[in-house]
Amino acid sequence: MATRPDGIVVAIDGPSGAGKSTIARLLADHLGYIQIDTGAMYRAAALLLSRAGIDLEDLAAVERFCSTIDIRLELVQGKQLVRANGADVTDLIRTPEMSLLTSRTSTLKPVREALLKAQQQMGKRGGVVLEGRDIGTVVFPDAEVKFYLSASVEERARRRCEELTLRGERVTLEETIADVASRDRQDSERDIAPLRQADDAIMIDSSRLSVDDVLAAMIAVCRDKSSTGGASK
Ligand code: DC
Repeated sequence: MATRPDGIVVAIDGPSGAGKSTIARLLADHLGYIQIDTGAMYRAAALLLSRAGIDLEDLAAVERFCSTIDIRLELVQGKQLVRANGADVTDLIRTPEMSLLTSRTSTLKPVREALLKAQQQMGKRGGVVLEGRDIGTVVFPDAEVKFYLSASVEERARRRCEELTLRGERVTLEETIADVASRDRQDSERDIAPLRQADDAIMIDSSRLSVDDVLAAMIAVCRDKSSTGGASK
């Protein structure tokens, strides 16, 4: 196994609403690692494509556009900011409309190729916790630790509904269940880099587990890895 200068690569994949972002942040903090929310990068790309009015059927135009975009994740006072072509889009990319659009734009080959390169570049030194759908299968198939974090559709929709309501969005649980199920379908049925558990990923079902339980289980695995390969800086 190749050693990386800044530590190991931890991959957390799974469907939307399984709690990946919360856990990835806590785990990254615990390890002193950088968190890379690849979903936020796909969302930012979708926002830029839509603002520029790019025809999503015209893959050559999508490819040209993607070669010009600059998406960065920055940690500012403990909060992860998403910058797209210099502008702070952290909150703009979190609406239900953007979720649906991203589910579509993330099926496009030029979008995936552009972000794949960026993610590999960001994580290659190690010392990172990457979360997404294809981290353990495509972005870092050689990640030292891989988790597949899931939960039932109902539980994930309940959490998402709660989160959106807190943010002032008016959504019902029924709508959210349909939305989560539809995104699951799009994410796992697409041709390129579909959502699936890597053969060597550790599956954690968070339906009945607290955040602390999930975190403790992951820390134990990473600690185990650190005694054989070095998980902490
Ligand atoms: O994790 P999220 O809900 O913010 O992800 C937004 C969308 O991006 C979702 O439809 C799946 C897609 N995505 C992807 O295709 N590959 C990734 N590595 C991360 C997210």
